[in-house]
Formats: sequence, structure tokens, C-alpha cells
Amino acid sequence: MKPKLVFVAAVARNGVIGADARTPWRLKSDLVRFRELTWGRPLLMGRRTFESIGRPLPGRETVALSRDPEFRPEGAHLARSLEEALDRATRLAEAMKAPEIIVAGGAQIYSAFLSRAEVIHLTEVALTVAGDARFPALDPGEWRVTARETPLRAAEDEADFEYLRLERK
Ligand SMILES: NC(=O)c1ccc[n+]([C@@H]2O[C@H](COP(=O)([O-])OP(=O)(O)OC[C@H]3O[C@@H](n4cnc5c(N)ncnc54)[C@H](OP(=O)(O)O)[C@@H]3O)[C@@H](O)[C@H]2O)c1
Repeated sequence: MKPKLVFVAAVARNGVIGADARTPWRLKSDLVRFRELTWGRPLLMGRRTFESIGRPLPGRETVALSRDPEFRPEGAHLARSLEEALDRATRLAEAMKAPEIIVAGGAQIYSAFLSRAEVIHLTEVALTVAGDARFPALDPGEWRVTARETPLRAAEDEADFEYLRLERK
């Protein structure tokens, strides 16, 4: 069966997802959730996000997108185009018996794959922050919220947040 293309993203009230190549908040609970949602699955991410994480994430296979001929992502698979990335991730999903391919950002990569996304796991972060990377605008005519959860804020969480599941209408 063809794996689903699933986004996982944490987004501030004003749409910001990143500032100066990093995430502008610390939410320990959301990192744990990211691990749970992505475990055992192939991840697609842009070169900037790959470099910002600084290492391939354990328990997953990363496909890093770049057009830079010099770029060699250590411990990850390289893709030079969206199609190559999807082909590679689809083959990895088959080998891993994973039902989903995860699109893990950043802004360029979310925008590029949005038209093909089937599910979005969105963490709505109750902050308005400055930043240079934004999640693409979602057309309310195309997406519906199918689940919403307000988890308890843990000591290591810098803000309140909600977990939303969106599915394409
Ligand atoms: N809050 C969240 O959930 C979340 C998640 C992920 C990332 N982030 C944040 O998002 C920010 C990074 O986002 P970003 O938009 O600046 O960068 P990005 O999407 O991570 O990476 C962009 C890079 O991907 C490559 N690329 C883009 N389109 C491509 C294509 N069609 N074919 C081949 N390669 C392609 C290019 O690499 P080359 O320049 O090497 O050619 C481009 O510079 C950071 O601040 C990060 O912390 C936040």
C-alpha cells in the first residue's frame, strides 16, 4: 500500500516555525510527541533543518533535500528534487514497513509538499514570536480538524500548546 504523506509541525500563533535556523521555543513534551509520531518512519527534511538538528535522528531514516552538489548528509539519504525525495522515502517506507512518510520541515519543504499532504499533526504553540521561517497558510476549504487535544504543560515546556490532527477534506 502507498504510504501516506504526513506533516508534523509546531507552529506559533503568527505562523512562525523557526528563527535563525532554530526552533524559537523549548517544548519538551512536543519533542517526545515528535519522536512517537515519527518513530520507524522515513523523514523528509530540507538541508537547513537537517543541519539545524545536526545529526540523523535514531529509529528513523532521513532523506535530506539539497540542490548543493557539495552537500553530503552524514548518516542520511540525499535527494536533489522533490520527486527524488518522494521516490527514496517510498522505497524506505516499504523496507521499514512504515505506513507513513513524514514531512518534517522546514518552511520551504512544508510549502513544497503541502499539495500532496494527507494528514497534518500540528502543535499550536500559544506564542507570538519573531522568526524567519513560517508554516504555509492552510486553506480552510481543504482541511478539517479531526482531533484536538490540550495536554498538560510540563515543567520543561516554555508555553501552552494544543495538538491538532488535520485531514484533507
Ligand atoms: N517548528 C517546526 O515544526 C519546525 C520543523 C522543521 C524546521 N523548523 C525550522 O524551519 C527553519 C528552516 O526552514 P527553511 O525553510 O529555512 O529551510 P528548509 O526547508 O529546512 O531547507 C531548505 C533547503 O532545502 C533545499 N531544498 C528546498 N527545496 C528543494 C527542492 N525542490 N529540491 C532540492 N532541495 C531543495 C535547499 O537546500 P540547499 O540550499 O542546500 O540547496 C534549501 O536551502 C529553521 O528555523 C528550523 O528550525 C521548524
